[in-house]
Amino acid sequence: MRTALTGLAFALAAVTLAAGPAAGTPPPDDDTLRGAARGTGIRIGTAVDTDALAADVPYREAVAREFDTVTPENVMKWQLVEPQQGVFDWAAADRLVDFARANGQAVRGHTLVWHSQNPSWLTEDAFTPAELRELLRQHILAEVGHFKGRIWAWDVANEVFNDDGTLRDTLWLRALGPGYIADAFRWAHQADPKAALFLNDYNNEGVNAKSDAYYALIKQLRSAGVPVDGYGMQGHLGVQYGFPDTVVENVRRFDALGVQTAFTEVDVRMVLPPDVAKVRAQAEGFSTLLRACLLAKHCVSYTVWGFTDRYSWVPGFFDGQGSATPTDENLQPKPAYYALRDTLLIARR
Ligand code: XIL
Repeated sequence: MRTALTGLAFALAAVTLAAGPAAGTPPPDDDTLRGAARGTGIRIGTAVDTDALAADVPYREAVAREFDTVTPENVMKWQLVEPQQGVFDWAAADRLVDFARANGQAVRGHTLVWHSQNPSWLTEDAFTPAELRELLRQHILAEVGHFKGRIWAWDVANEVFNDDGTLRDTLWLRALGPGYIADAFRWAHQADPKAALFLNDYNNEGVNAKSDAYYALIKQLRSAGVPVDGYGMQGHLGVQYGFPDTVVENVRRFDALGVQTAFTEVDVRMVLPPDVAKVRAQAEGFSTLLRACLLAKHCVSYTVWGFTDRYSWVPGFFDGQGSATPTDENLQPKPAYYALRDTLLIARR
């Protein structure tokens, strides 16, 4: 840890000298992640549970205080925005976008085409390929159009590859073939030409078969003029698996392709109960990904998938696991929180 942080400080020293804070800039509030991120060139974000945002005041205050960007954890997914065909419900997502605006935060939109959390009318009815293509086109135009000008970056296509680098067998691939990915980006760009458009996946943080597939796809899409702007790495890690050691190498090859990168859903789970070693490893997992982002040229943001164990998705999805976020159920910081903050402070430029 020490060695890595020292390396980071050296790597960034030249930049620090070159660009001091502009005269008149208010002193950053170093006690928050948001304050510590100021001047680092990256935005620090969180997924937001919009029910908690409405009901839980300390949670709401922490979202506003600690983060530069927010991502709706669920409320922009197709299942939630169009539960019945032709019946749209943007209310919860609109409230989050308004909250972000009031707090000077950018919004990451999540997500437009995915194999999961689709409405049952879409997956159960037997649509023809031509109908499905039109439904997807209308969905993307409607959703991106609804939020036009209010979304910083969209996760356009989520989890399109398997870990072995083959395309995931989904409703979309089966009906439309691999071209559905390029189409989704073209439609999103048509509906909001200023939003940054991302591919997004898990297990693609290091150099491996899946990230190789993304590298090849992005290269191919960009040479064909498809408006792909970014490569998102979710960053769902677990202390029991160890952490990928080629993350810096990976983000730098996407730098070289000229696309932005982002860590979009970071959490570091563990088999319960926590102990000192796991908690320490967790802090290292969070900061490994953050350091890689800080060491990349075009890594624009680092988002945690929930910042408190009070609302984390992990215990509901991974049997016997949890404690995956930087603050506990009482919103008290864990070593991971301080590791994130210190890493940002060291990298400020
Ligand atoms: C998860 C949410 O956190 C849960 O509340 C929901 O029940 C299922 O989806 N990858 C993604 C996210 O891209 O959308 C997922 O979010 C977590 C995995």
